[in-house]
Amino acid sequence: MLSEFKPLRVGLVGCGGMGIRHARAVSGMRARGCAVVEIVAICDAEEGRREVVAGLIAKDGRRPAEYADPAALFADPNVEAVDIVLPTSLHHVMILEALAAGKHVLVEKPLALTVAACDLIVEAAGSTNLVVAVAENYRRIASNRAVAGLIREGAFGPLDAMYARNFASPEPPVKAGECPVAAPPWYRDRRSAGGYHVLEIGVHEADLQHFWFGPVRSVEARIGFFSRKRDNQAFPSEDLLTASFGFDGGFTSHIDFCSTIRGYETADRLLIGREAVVSSNAWHAWQGGEVRFEDGRREALDRMIATWIDQLAPEHRAQVLPHGAWIEDSEALATEPLTYGVGLAIHDFARAARSGTQPEINAEQARRAVATCCAMLESAELGTRVDVDDVLSGALRAGQAPLNQAIGLA
Ligand SMILES: NC(=O)c1ccc[n+]([C@@H]2O[C@H](COP(=O)([O-])OP(=O)(O)OC[C@H]3O[C@@H](n4cnc5c(N)ncnc54)[C@H](O)[C@@H]3O)[C@@H](O)[C@H]2O)c1
Repeated sequence: MLSEFKPLRVGLVGCGGMGIRHARAVSGMRARGCAVVEIVAICDAEEGRREVVAGLIAKDGRRPAEYADPAALFADPNVEAVDIVLPTSLHHVMILEALAAGKHVLVEKPLALTVAACDLIVEAAGSTNLVVAVAENYRRIASNRAVAGLIREGAFGPLDAMYARNFASPEPPVKAGECPVAAPPWYRDRRSAGGYHVLEIGVHEADLQHFWFGPVRSVEARIGFFSRKRDNQAFPSEDLLTASFGFDGGFTSHIDFCSTIRGYETADRLLIGREAVVSSNAWHAWQGGEVRFEDGRREALDRMIATWIDQLAPEHRAQVLPHGAWIEDSEALATEPLTYGVGLAIHDFARAARSGTQPEINAEQARRAVATCCAMLESAELGTRVDVDDVLSGALRAGQAPLNQAIGLA
């Protein structure tokens, strides 16, 4: 099989909903001649989950070594790098153990539960020559990449504001597709997930906004419990989040997320530029919308995105949308891991580990996305707008105290 470099021998830690998607992404890439990674070992505390993923990998060749305990996988000398896809509250401890064992680390978003946990990871990563990368897939979805490019090229003029809504039903908050991704119960436990909208979903938004518009400087958020009107126990984590983000130059963005609106599922985005207004009929990706220009012209957003991708110079394309790591023209955006950006995240990690370069999202960048989310907690706690720098420095941390306590960092 042709490959641009020798496949990285990876141990997959966590074979739950997202772990399966990582295994499928690797399999999908290999099927497209993109053998940048070989999963040589897997780990999950549950035997049944290991069985499913081991069977999937075995179809492509060798059956991986199986472990119930992550420490045993980290000690496997055949494993060069680990891919951690565990509940968020476990991320920092697992990353530190993997680095201590000399393994490169790819971890699912978010990097960790709090800024204090991220600090430990950044420090440990800085003291090694190992790669720490975050598998944040949303910015890798082709349409999100394209809109970032169009924004940078000034296609919509200087930007003023963005509005996003994501309203979903409670059962399940993450939609089941081909892959079993029904939300596990720990998503609803703040001490494990940091809040369903604030961190579990919110970190995608924080990273996307940084990717499109630059660093978030200030945050004002209100966190609510909409479903408590019906059932106190239905959603112990917040189910309603409204927030606004401030950027350099006066650009502001606003989000409204609710996960317990039965029968009214809707998601959209609106980007207001001085030369055009861009709409999208989805939250996680720009799709199905329209670009309305100041001069009255209208263009289908999907067409503008396709043109941007078609016109990419070969070297740029190989960098941002490498061949074999994503599927053009796939409709199954939320269920097909390659199209959904997971393949690109894994490809970027392997390239960084093999070439000794920085990954697209390293620990420091991912720490900033977590800090933006934690700024929502801090703002809600104080009832005022907060500066992200004060959250990054640790000056504001009272809102994160229960989470730090839960992971032993109080
Ligand atoms: N990028 C995305 O779109 C996306 C979507 C869903 C989840 N995620 C992220 O992926 C990560 C995992 O989420 P998930 O939905 O797969 O959760 P999950 O609960 O479905 O899977 C977690 C797996 O970890 C195993 N596990 C837990 N503790 C363990 C331990 N100590 N040792 C060994 N195995 C252990 C569980 O048995 C389970 O199979 C989280 O960080 C989450 O935020 C990302």
